[in-house]
Amino acid sequence: MTQPDVKRPLQLNDNGQLRHFLSLDGLSCELLTEILDTADSFLEVGARAVKKVPLLRGRTVCNVFFENSTRTRTTFELAAQRLSADVITLNVSTSSTSKGETLTDTLRNLEAMAADMFVVRHADSGAAHFIAEHVCPNVAVINGGDGRHAHPTQGMLDMLTIRRHKGGFENLSVAIVGDILHSRVARSNMLALKTLGCPDIRVIGPKTLLPSGLEQYGVRVFHDMDEGIRDVDVVIMLRLQRERMQGGLLPSEGEFYKLYGLTAQRLRLTKPDAIVMHPGPINRGVEIESAVADGPQSVILNQVTYGIAIRMAVLSMAMSGQATQRQLESESVSEEQN
Ligand code: NCD
Repeated sequence: MTQPDVKRPLQLNDNGQLRHFLSLDGLSCELLTEILDTADSFLEVGARAVKKVPLLRGRTVCNVFFENSTRTRTTFELAAQRLSADVITLNVSTSSTSKGETLTDTLRNLEAMAADMFVVRHADSGAAHFIAEHVCPNVAVINGGDGRHAHPTQGMLDMLTIRRHKGGFENLSVAIVGDILHSRVARSNMLALKTLGCPDIRVIGPKTLLPSGLEQYGVRVFHDMDEGIRDVDVVIMLRLQRERMQGGLLPSEGEFYKLYGLTAQRLRLTKPDAIVMHPGPINRGVEIESAVADGPQSVILNQVTYGIAIRMAVLSMAMSGQATQRQLESESVSEEQN
């Protein structure tokens, strides 16, 4: 599979609205802000006794997860259900992939069932992009995480968390800590923070877990955790992506915890009202101390709640962007015929 090269027109329709959601690359501050504002308005739906709005009634959303997921899969399911869509989730380990069916054939079969949207998670960087460009261009494709490349809805739910707890991005210092090299969450977060105007983005980790080319994100790099988290407003901790590591990039988990683990003692170096975030799953005692994960500064479970609202926003915006594109295309065909 080729490396993704997400160009503006592929994700956007001719009116500049979302029609797929593949990466935050190339999306404007205005569009990201529209996603956050739309999600804010959906948060209220989750607080109702009857948690439903009819925006996607009669539409079919297929979750196709080729990689493990707990939060992302279930919150996409709930988001689609709260928008009144029909939802199916393909458990790939029991699907025909294990009988040799290709990704393309699996998705073409779902398209033949009149699916309107695919939410795709895949271990290959560029998988969602490939599907949107070459497999099913008329189905709205939402990236639920592709390899180490991008996890745009996680990026946006993290931005919603920061905006709701810190009021905006203008004067913020944000530290992203740990396995940046293998983290699609880190990449989406750096892009989102940069686009939304965060002036101080810091990445902290050992040299072996930091990718080259970090300059493009306008971040400051630290190898010393105590120095890096000093006076920050937000700390985003990451899980060690063991499943994506080749060879011995780390001495040991114990050593990593000693150097980069977020302990209650280290947290005192941040601003006193700093918030602690983590996309989950958390590994207690590996990247974060339990007292911090469960402590008063942790907003880790708020992130999960906000994730449903972000996914409702992205699903509804992409569905309407696809419909508008189809309308624009049919208008241009009828103009040509006249
Ligand atoms: C992240 C992922 O899958 O990229 N988790 C998530 O979506 N909530 C981070 C991780 O697995 O460490």
